[in-house]
Amino acid sequence: MAVIAVYSVKGGVGKTTIAANLAWFSAAVSRRKTLLWDLDAAGGAGFLFGVEPRRSRSAQSIFAKDAAPADLIRHTAIDMLDLLPADESLRDLDGLLARIGKKKRLARLAEDLSTQYERIILDCPPVLSELSAQVIRAADVVIVPLPPSPLSARALDMVTQEIRTHAKAQPPILPVLSMLDLRRNLHRAARQANPGWPVIPQASAVEQCAVLQRAVGDFAPTSPAARAFGQLWTAIERRLAG
Ligand SMILES: Nc1ncnc2c1ncn2[C@@H]1O[C@H](COP(=O)(O)OP(=O)(O)O)[C@@H](O)[C@H]1O
Ligand SMILES: [Mg+2]
Repeated sequence: MAVIAVYSVKGGVGKTTIAANLAWFSAAVSRRKTLLWDLDAAGGAGFLFGVEPRRSRSAQSIFAKDAAPADLIRHTAIDMLDLLPADESLRDLDGLLARIGKKKRLARLAEDLSTQYERIILDCPPVLSELSAQVIRAADVVIVPLPPSPLSARALDMVTQEIRTHAKAQPPILPVLSMLDLRRNLHRAARQANPGWPVIPQASAVEQCAVLQRAVGDFAPTSPAARAFGQLWTAIERRLAG
């Protein structure tokens, strides 16, 4: 089992989009039993697969151990892909985790899920908090989407620092140039400065994910965007194997 966190301190950088599309590749192409775990109260990952949270249970209740993950997990329309949806209760997850005082609660929950899932992909909120510390302790690899901007370098520094602070066995960081548009000078410069980083292009096909509520690999398998997500997934699998 491996836990793949898609994380940044910044919002709107493509975390949810990347998490959902990687989950699709993991399940539909690698044929691994995959759980996409939405940790952001905004609930974008569930929306991208047309999955609503169960009304009877709150997403926070599994952290309080008032409910088992299995009580909340939903199947998606994709074979091998399940989703642990978010809801409004996650707004106060930091407070709850701080009150409980168990630094590895998320890591242990993920460990328990490893009997059922080979890959767990965490879609994280853009926070520096107890939750991000827990994510870092649980993760085997941390994917950091970085749109080409000077602010991104700062975000990467903050994530790197956060990982140094919170993880004993430090998970590798895989920065990803997201929303790349090579017609723009700044973007070309960012690409040249980081030739080894995987790239996700700025593409209308990616925006369509939210309209169609499907992964790009599903509705446009030969598009450059789908190929880019596939290459990113391969890079992650390689990192996990090494
Ligand atoms: N590669 C891309 N090309 C075009 N639009 C994108 C791309 N990645 C993300 N978006 C759009 O940008 C917005 C923010 O993406 P999202 O994945 O929700 O970011 P985050 O989870 O980091 O807040 C969404 O409207 C999404 O459709
Ligand atoms: Mg998001």
